[in-house]
Amino acid sequence: MNMEDNKLEKLVALCKRRGFVFQGSEIYGGLAGIYDYGHLGSILSHNIKQLWWQKFVLSRENMYGIEASSMMPESVWRASGHLGEGFTDPMIECTKCKRRFRADHLENKEKCSECGGKLGAEKKFNTMFPLTVGSTEGSANTAYLRGELAQAMFVNFKNILDTERPKIPFGIAQIGRAYRNEIAVRDFIFRVREWNLAEFEYFIRADEWEKTFEMWRREMWSWIEEVGIDKTKVHELEVAPEDRAHYSKRTVDFEYDFTFGRKELYGLAYRTDFDLKNHSESSGVDMSYREEGKEKFIPHVIEPTFGLGRTMLAILESAYTEDELGGEKRVYLRLAPKLAPIKVAVFPLLKNKSELVTKARDVYQALKSTFAISHLPFHIAFDDNGNIGKRYRRQDEIGTPYCVTIDFDTLEDNAVTVRDRDTGNQERLPIAELANYIKSKIA
Ligand code: GAP
Repeated sequence: MNMEDNKLEKLVALCKRRGFVFQGSEIYGGLAGIYDYGHLGSILSHNIKQLWWQKFVLSRENMYGIEASSMMPESVWRASGHLGEGFTDPMIECTKCKRRFRADHLENKEKCSECGGKLGAEKKFNTMFPLTVGSTEGSANTAYLRGELAQAMFVNFKNILDTERPKIPFGIAQIGRAYRNEIAVRDFIFRVREWNLAEFEYFIRADEWEKTFEMWRREMWSWIEEVGIDKTKVHELEVAPEDRAHYSKRTVDFEYDFTFGRKELYGLAYRTDFDLKNHSESSGVDMSYREEGKEKFIPHVIEPTFGLGRTMLAILESAYTEDELGGEKRVYLRLAPKLAPIKVAVFPLLKNKSELVTKARDVYQALKSTFAISHLPFHIAFDDNGNIGKRYRRQDEIGTPYCVTIDFDTLEDNAVTVRDRDTGNQERLPIAELANYIKSKIA
């Protein structure tokens, strides 16, 4: 059987079995399009966020972070155009079973694929999630869960100008949850109703948009490479004017060849001054920027956006590998070491030899404290369950790049066996050199 056969099913099973991703509220039958990350999934997600923040915010001089709320009042979404035609999907409902479908995903628009009933007329469906805030109903109390993060960057634009005094060009970045009441959720964590999103708005002068667009296009490729997404499966798509979001004058999508088809992974958009202008007009607050001694103007915006659930899925699909090692079939995740949830697993060769267990615990604790101040979370596992072969397979399956075994020789020579996940090769190293060795491999 080819490795690509049923790859998504195998990955979904692995994610559940090893604690990466669970169906949300599963014991009550789950909620469609809602997923929870388990121990390893939450570490992987955290690592992706940290790396993104490091690359796009911390390592730059002109990028400012915010952490805004998920709820914003109706006035924000009216001004941004998200409550109008711009943020709707075409929907068709079955007159018999009442199931809803994305009209643009249907081949047969007459007959329901689920129950054979007659499909109704195509309607527009707004995907924003409404909320009533407080105890009284009314438009003043209507809020929405954010459908994108960008609006918080726009409504805080003046706050950032006043507190940070940035010079154009500069960006405002955020990582957080986004919510959309998608008509048809599908393909595991690909299209969901709540997900992690990372995006920034990069404010520029209007005449600099083309060169800035190119600059961020290159940086997005560099990110794709850094996280270990298979570059040969990523393709740029120049989005046609009629398919672009209502705010965009140019959009390039980065699509990935998922096992279920070529689909959008990321987007890069030129949002012009659409949002700041609309918020200026709707709120009455002047959103212009002025450099000393120069005319004031409303900046234009380039926006790179990164769905982090889709990032995780593309990383996992890229990393999922089946091969044969020592005559045995195995599955392993070839994750970039800096993203791997567990960096090192420490094993005593035998569980019931207390001198081996004590020594292995010492090595484990020493590694844990050495890496406690690392900027990337550095999880180290201790495992004494089952035979060594099984322990290797378990770590391979979750993408742990290095396993360290303490054996009887260790008690004499203070050296350990370090095994490499990808090659299965083993080398002997003095314990004193272990931390530096791991550091050099994982940075
Ligand atoms: N601020 C721009 C914006 O929201 P978008 O293309 O509509 O643009 C941004 O969404 C990114 O969020 C997408 O590129 C994709 O990675 C991710 N995304 C969008 N809808 C999603 C969904 N229903 N489930 C998971 N990720 C989604």
